[in-house]
Amino acid sequence: MTPLRCSVDKAPEILVENVSKSFEQGGDILHVLQSVYFEARAGELVMIVGPSGSGKTTLLSAIAGTLRTDAGSIRLFDFPLQDKTPSEITAFRKRHIGFIFQQFHLIPTLTCGVNAAIPLLLNGWDYAKALNESRAALEEVGLGAKFDSLPKHLSGGQQQRVAIARALIHKPALVICDEPTSALDAESGSKIMDLIAAHVKNSHRVVIVVTHDSRIFKYADRMVKMDDGKISYAS
Ligand SMILES: Nc1ncnc2c1ncn2[C@@H]1O[C@H](COP(=O)(O)OP(=O)(O)OP(=O)(O)O)[C@@H](O)[C@H]1O
Ligand SMILES: [Mg+2]
Repeated sequence: MTPLRCSVDKAPEILVENVSKSFEQGGDILHVLQSVYFEARAGELVMIVGPSGSGKTTLLSAIAGTLRTDAGSIRLFDFPLQDKTPSEITAFRKRHIGFIFQQFHLIPTLTCGVNAAIPLLLNGWDYAKALNESRAALEEVGLGAKFDSLPKHLSGGQQQRVAIARALIHKPALVICDEPTSALDAESGSKIMDLIAAHVKNSHRVVIVVTHDSRIFKYADRMVKMDDGKISYAS
């Protein structure tokens, strides 16, 4: 695949324009995203806050290309999602996006070491090298000792930290985090946010964080609010 090109002159690296998405639920139509505009620039950690059910996870799925929208356009760096085939989007995601899901999504039958190595293995890394790298990544999140453990033997907060190691291991250009500190105490939450913020600092990378956790608001370069399927630009 061609290398990722970043925009010159501070144009947004992530640009969501007029994106709408509706779901049918019990005969009703839910307008979950309503002409959403969202942008993020190189080196930015943007936080999205808003009430439960306002469409935050749906927007993240649209940006990650795992959810087809009904209308609008999304550009990730030089990659216009709406012009691409599902397999092109999957290939892009594999290389350039790291996710931290609201529900962690670790694979229960694989050790934490292998779970954290998955993005490297998907990108064709040699198995032993990928596992070496994941040992270092787990150490960075304070879980070196859990390398050989299965996820079910970890607490919720520890599983969340494995998911964070997995999201950052392949140094993706875009990191998407859905409530990355929801299961963490204040101290581990700060350590994790330090890691996530360091990933984006002085780079062309972008981090988007959805959160309800006011303890981590200070890590935001910019904060936007989502309400009823729309984004408002408060600051
Ligand atoms: N696949 C789906 N089918 C039907 N409705 C859906 C689907 N996905 C999301 N919704 C609905 O869309 C709305 C927004 O959901 P979403 O998960 O994006 O909210 P959220 O802002 O992330 O909430 P939370 O803060 O609780 O995680 C909800 O009413 C939800 O029930
Ligand atoms: Mg959500």
